[in-house]
Amino acid sequence: MVVICLGAMKTKLNIGVLISGGGSNLQAIIEACEQGQLDANIVFVGSDNAAAKGLERAAKHGIPSFVVDYAAIIRKSKHHPSEAGYPQRVDIDQLVAKILAKQSNLDPQKLTSMVRSRIPAEVDLLKQMASYSFDLLILAGFMRTLTPYFIDSINQPHGTHKIMNIHPALLPAFPGLDGYGDTVQYGCKVGGCTVHFIDYGEDTGPIIGQAAFPIAESDDLDTVRKKGLSLEWQLYPKCIQYLAEGRLRVVERIYRLKNGSTIKRKIVDILPKKR
Ligand code: GRF
Repeated sequence: MVVICLGAMKTKLNIGVLISGGGSNLQAIIEACEQGQLDANIVFVGSDNAAAKGLERAAKHGIPSFVVDYAAIIRKSKHHPSEAGYPQRVDIDQLVAKILAKQSNLDPQKLTSMVRSRIPAEVDLLKQMASYSFDLLILAGFMRTLTPYFIDSINQPHGTHKIMNIHPALLPAFPGLDGYGDTVQYGCKVGGCTVHFIDYGEDTGPIIGQAAFPIAESDDLDTVRKKGLSLEWQLYPKCIQYLAEGRLRVVERIYRLKNGSTIKRKIVDILPKKR
């Protein structure tokens, strides 16, 4: 099966960005748009955190923004579930099954409670985003797990890939919250960052681009993070531009293992630039 991503845009790519904190990747994308290195417009910036510095960056560049108070919504959904806003036709067990199909090692009960508590926040997020027309959603340091309910709502028609993330490690090594920290703790001699499409697992989606840097004896977490971030600022706009040029194709590959079994994996082909 071959899934073609968005075709080359006749006009600029409209992107929405979700952030939780400093927004240095957002800044890099804003600048790449303004300097004409990226054929895209940022149509909104959303955050789960009203204090995110990235919101100020958006305001400075005249980009509309909104906040969805995840912490308050999650609290409410735990203490007053009947008042939380659940969509009518949502089957939590089915959503959990989609995550488990990607990551079978997770605890189904914990996952159920995570999904149940996130959905009301995602309903709000989708409502806010509905005011904007966008082709691609960029996660730039958005520190919230997205459930299959949200992912499927964005990836329409079914099978398309419209959510990108940047992760501070060379995936599949060190998924999770602290990529640079894990890289340093493991004593890695090389660190890096990865841009990938989102799927239902944690940092498991098809990889679009990666960049790596050497780690010296004299490096610590701070310098590793600095080295990594400066690569992120180049890598993210580059990967978004591939999409703007219609050069990304997600392909399902089947690999045969020596023991006779097979694994299916979606990977990203980067097509050559059209002349
Ligand atoms: C980056 O390291 C990114 O890889 C990770 O979160 C951090 C966000 O930094 N997902 P910033 O908010 O873009 O400065």
